Amino acid sequence: MSNILLVGNGAREHAIAEAIKRSTKIQFLFSYMKANNPGITSLSAKTKSGSYFDLEAIVIFATENKIDFAVIGPEDPLGNGVVDALAAAGIPAVGPTKSLARLETSKAFTRNLVSKYNIPGNPQYKVFTAIDGVEDFLNSLDGIVLKPDGLTGGKGVLVQGDHFTTKKEALKLCEQILKESSSLIVEEKFDGEEFSLQCLCDGKTVVGTPLVQDHKRRFDGDKGPNTGGMGSYSLPDHSMPFLKPTDIEEGLEITRQVAAALMKETGRSYKGVMYGGFIATRNGTKLLEYNARFGDPEAMNILPLLKTDFVEICRHIIDGTLDKLKIEFEQKATVCKYIVPKGYGLPADNTDTTSVKAKIEVGNVGEAKLYYSSVDKKEDGLYLSSSRAIGIVGIADTLTAARLIAEEGVKAVQGPVDYRKDIGTDELIQKRIDHMKEIRKE
Ligand code: GLY
Repeated sequence: MSNILLVGNGAREHAIAEAIKRSTKIQFLFSYMKANNPGITSLSAKTKSGSYFDLEAIVIFATENKIDFAVIGPEDPLGNGVVDALAAAGIPAVGPTKSLARLETSKAFTRNLVSKYNIPGNPQYKVFTAIDGVEDFLNSLDGIVLKPDGLTGGKGVLVQGDHFTTKKEALKLCEQILKESSSLIVEEKFDGEEFSLQCLCDGKTVVGTPLVQDHKRRFDGDKGPNTGGMGSYSLPDHSMPFLKPTDIEEGLEITRQVAAALMKETGRSYKGVMYGGFIATRNGTKLLEYNARFGDPEAMNILPLLKTDFVEICRHIIDGTLDKLKIEFEQKATVCKYIVPKGYGLPADNTDTTSVKAKIEVGNVGEAKLYYSSVDKKEDGLYLSSSRAIGIVGIADTLTAARLIAEEGVKAVQGPVDYRKDIGTDELIQKRIDHMKEIRKE
């Protein structure tokens, strides 16, 4: 029986907390959060709030509570080195060390690693620390993607056609990025359909989980600015209807090779989640980026489907014995819809500020699952912040049934909120299928 520390306070961590509490192998759950998540608090024996930079406070909380191991949810504490700090106190963790978390915290590190070890999936790319040479490289590309090096909360990537049009505009944006970030990655833009492949890794063995598709854009029809993710779906066959089996195998193989390369490069085992953001293209699967954690919202799609005990999975990750464990998921469809403040994700001059910090009422979500994200629980009720508030998840035998359960659940939340109605609809998914057919010229 284990005492487990969970670090993180979002809906992803609420889903992780639920998976931990379903285990028969847990004694107590302890949670360290930046802000109080009422869902996680209700599942925890004890909580502590504090900054993800305060590694000392996290280690003291863990030691005082005789923690057997920790599970780290978000990228910020990973990037700050919480796993190293816990290890120094003799506490293992599911989550990579600071050096290995560069997989997410430094896009330049990952591109260079993939290139150095001749792993497939990279676009044409160059890393710049000064503007010299940027214009020539921009001129050599047909479509352009610009990325600052470092954590950007999923919102820092600039894509030609979405965020800028001409190469002249791209150059100006590069100058701007180099003022704010130590380096800039300029990449070739891929045309295709994106999918999230969240893999579990113990340093040697990489295990894929059901594929999920996230929806970054703020509004229905994939319109509006990029967000942290407005919702996601997964299917009973654990694939995506626009993918070929080879697309998935290629994503898995890239991840296996990256795990091996990380070991060669750092001499350390990557223990945690390697979440590959992939894109299926006419030339096979390409790597957009890695995250060193579960996706948010994607964790809410896969963790409730786990048939295998999550705590046992964590133990095998820590012990390096994932190859000895059969990890199974229910063959169900899931649809996650994020409820957000009306002004969420909009530029400051266009933000409906009345929704920020407004009170919401949460009624009965019926068959749906509810995962709290950024809500503030006060004595008189729940209040919104400026971020995503609540993930509502429908699970059923078919996608339509899962979507309808999620839609019913969404109705239970009253206040100045919004969500994407189109996530999980046949119409939107058919658009993805048609897009892939078109680019594959089928
Ligand atoms: N779903 C996007 C992310 O977790 O970064």
